[in-house]
Amino acid sequence: MIGLRRGLVRGARISALGVHVPERVLTNDEISQFLDTSDEWIFTRTGIRERRIARADQAASDLGEVAARRCLESAGLVPAELDLVIVTTISPDHIMPATASIVADKIGATKAGAFDVQAGCTGFVYGLAIATAFVSANIYQNVLVIGAEVLSKMVDWEDRSSCVLFGDGAGAVLVQPTDNGSIFSFDLGNDGSGAPFLNVPAGGSREPASHETVRQHGHAMHMTGSEVFKFATRSVVGSCEKVLGDAELTVEDVDLFVPHQANVRIIETAARRLGFTEAQVFVNLDRYGNTSCASIPICLHEASQSGRLKKGDMLLMAGFGAGFTWGSCLSKWEL
Ligand code: ACO
Repeated sequence: MIGLRRGLVRGARISALGVHVPERVLTNDEISQFLDTSDEWIFTRTGIRERRIARADQAASDLGEVAARRCLESAGLVPAELDLVIVTTISPDHIMPATASIVADKIGATKAGAFDVQAGCTGFVYGLAIATAFVSANIYQNVLVIGAEVLSKMVDWEDRSSCVLFGDGAGAVLVQPTDNGSIFSFDLGNDGSGAPFLNVPAGGSREPASHETVRQHGHAMHMTGSEVFKFATRSVVGSCEKVLGDAELTVEDVDLFVPHQANVRIIETAARRLGFTEAQVFVNLDRYGNTSCASIPICLHEASQSGRLKKGDMLLMAGFGAGFTWGSCLSKWEL
């Protein structure tokens, strides 16, 4: 069954999950040794204590590969059974080819199509929506959605207002058909006037790479934090209200709210405006920082492992990020 109403879909479910984070932990105290900052400032303003950092020889596809293998292993599916591999990332291995092509090759998904989704930190929700649409429409049976980020190589380590926020990691989910209709409702949004406030200015066709762009740190992430903050709280609240309304549910019906992990103050503000209790909201950015497209699947894995997310629970996921983009998804948890 598909397309009950705009934004409402049935017939697909998340059937497996796999995660991989690098071993290396970088604490706020360590950052304070080379930057004018402190654990107290970072923790108070963001809720972050530490983040994971990839090795010099690791790119997004390397983390994504491990997460993908773990996901397939837990599903008991061989890579050749995959129909489609979607990678969502803002730190791709290269501008081209797509990181999904590289991951699909590494894992041996020889029969799958592969492409990347670039929607800022909302990428995972966008990728999940695409996978759900393909599966609900009965076009594909086995779609892998991987959020993979090596943001430690995308930040300007001299810019204390942004580099302290981000971390590396990957998470993958398998989307397969179901008769129970476990994914109920999506909302995807975009306001491109937000582009100046969160971007990597150089290296594309607008400002091609040159000695000058390198000198000006134009290949690193640039962010106006206060604008991102205002946008994020506004968009998450509106988007969550929309998916709940479409499904004719309220916050009381939600067992776990898993927002993109950017800043604990954004999460708390949005959760308070929506009317969630603390017990309904999942937060782990104290240990990982903002892992962009990987943050939601990493949370799902931890929540599921720790028993915070149980089979049959009503799950609300919400992302926001560069674009500006935003997206939410309401789903019954079936693992
Ligand atoms: N350590 C110490 N001081 C700092 C640091 C730091 N790491 N960073 C900034 N400061 C200083 C500033 O220089 C400024 O000093 P000044 O008053 O002398 O000029 C002071 O702290 C306050 O700076 P603000 O930018 O006003 O601090 P604010 O309270 O707004 O917090 C922050 C900044 C944490 C970045 C906040 O704006 C924020 O979280 N914004 C959202 C960012 C975000 O979530 N981005 C990613 C979302 S989208 C995605 O995931 C890609």
